[in-house]
Amino acid sequence: MIHIMGYIKSDALRETGFVVLDQYDQEADPKEWLDIEYVDWKSSGDTRFAPLASAFGEIECNGFWNHKPPRTDKDGVFIPSQVEKAPNLTRRAQEPGANIGRCRVIELQPNTYADALYNLHQDDNNRLNPDGTGWVVRGFFNLTDDKDSYFVLRENRTDPSVEYRIALPAGAQLIVDTQRLWHAAAHYGSEPRYCLITSWTSGPELDAYIEKYHGTSQVPNVEVPQDVLDAGQAEQSRRIAARAAALAARGQADQTAMSEA
Ligand SMILES: [Fe+2]
Repeated sequence: MIHIMGYIKSDALRETGFVVLDQYDQEADPKEWLDIEYVDWKSSGDTRFAPLASAFGEIECNGFWNHKPPRTDKDGVFIPSQVEKAPNLTRRAQEPGANIGRCRVIELQPNTYADALYNLHQDDNNRLNPDGTGWVVRGFFNLTDDKDSYFVLRENRTDPSVEYRIALPAGAQLIVDTQRLWHAAAHYGSEPRYCLITSWTSGPELDAYIEKYHGTSQVPNVEVPQDVLDAGQAEQSRRIAARAAALAARGQADQTAMSEA
């Protein structure tokens, strides 16, 4: 007899790998992200992170599999000093009632669409995740009102034929299978972008939350002029080739398939 278990995943994410939820009234809440403590943590782009939950409740951002004992991205421990400064962000991360792994605010400095294409990566959300349990996906709550910025999602890193561009005003709420979809933000402006990112375990709790807030992937793509799209694609190709050449010169292979963040 053959047993095929597989992970528990959300039907709502099956087709495209993401949903956009109802917009949250972000302006009604205080700017808690300015009060919490950040650590330097290299992700895609020029970033810092402020963890709300980490592997053992310390202010650090390492993947849970890098701790002893190594474990998957579940059962994150909320950090009392951060929770105290960010009660609304904590409440929102916990609202679905799904298991939470890493939970942190990202601070991203301004960049461009071309930068975002080069920064596209997949997350390592399900390392050590036991087969038959819930697949870990991520919630993105945009905190700053980044009217000209957008999230870029692709099925394939270098293929522009499937590309979703999701607007990032204050209160934008997305849930993304970031281990499946290549993703990065194009952030225009002069101030950093802040976004709460939470690892949630798929299951009935998350499904109910997606339904409650009308999760859908039927949202319009942010319109970007074709010449900007073409120039971004060309720049991504150029940078990938330049990096491969630099690594080849050092006798190393490219390892950008999985990111820590
Ligand atoms: Fe990521």
